[in-house]
Amino acid sequence: MLTEITQEILADLPDSVKLRQTDIETLQGARGFIFDRLDLITTSFYDILFGFEKTEAVFREGERSAREASFKHWVELTLTKEINQEYWEWQAYVGLIHVKRGIKNDIFVRMLNYVTELLVAEVVNNVPKEQAVPILIAWLRLSSTVSALIVQGYEQFYHQAIEGMTGIDETLLDRLVAVQIDDMVAANQQYRM
Ligand code: HEM
Repeated sequence: MLTEITQEILADLPDSVKLRQTDIETLQGARGFIFDRLDLITTSFYDILFGFEKTEAVFREGERSAREASFKHWVELTLTKEINQEYWEWQAYVGLIHVKRGIKNDIFVRMLNYVTELLVAEVVNNVPKEQAVPILIAWLRLSSTVSALIVQGYEQFYHQAIEGMTGIDETLLDRLVAVQIDDMVAANQQYRM
């Protein structure tokens, strides 16, 4: 099931915005630079999650070090592994693990962007412009594809759960949602440009 979902999602992205082999090489070439900052990035990431009541609440007692380790492992594998179908399926799986713990797309995507913020500051302040731009573009292509998988995967998991429980298939569900959307668009015409 993860294979199908992942293939479908990736097939929906135009080639011109997909991560390229040259991006992967660029990113993996910068791995030493990123690994040198990984402790700092990880601490900052979890300081935020553990410093905010709503996100802290998803963690179990004493879980921080395990979470830091899995985050670091994710960065390490991302910058060393081949980025292929198996890698993308793993991302869909990581999304699923978060859904299981009640972590929604908004916080996942925002925190992935926080990693980007930290990386932008480090790269721009320490790497010559000719190298900094391709590194950051490659990271953005990778991280936004991960986000796309997490978000679309979440929607698909919901669809499949609803279909499994109620028999309402994706086409019918899309129609029901479309009716709701039409009503909401009609009720919010003041925002139309
Ligand atoms: C940049 C975004 C994130 C990445 C790359 C990431 C990565 C990971 C990885 C690789 C795992 C281990 C999965 C496994 O056991 O196979 C994990 C687990 C987990 N993450 Fe994240 N994570 C992110 C964001 C978040 C956020 C925002 C939260 C909380 C608000 C969170 C909470 C958790 C929890 C609670 C688990 C344990 C799941 C379980 O095994 O029960 N993560 N994460």
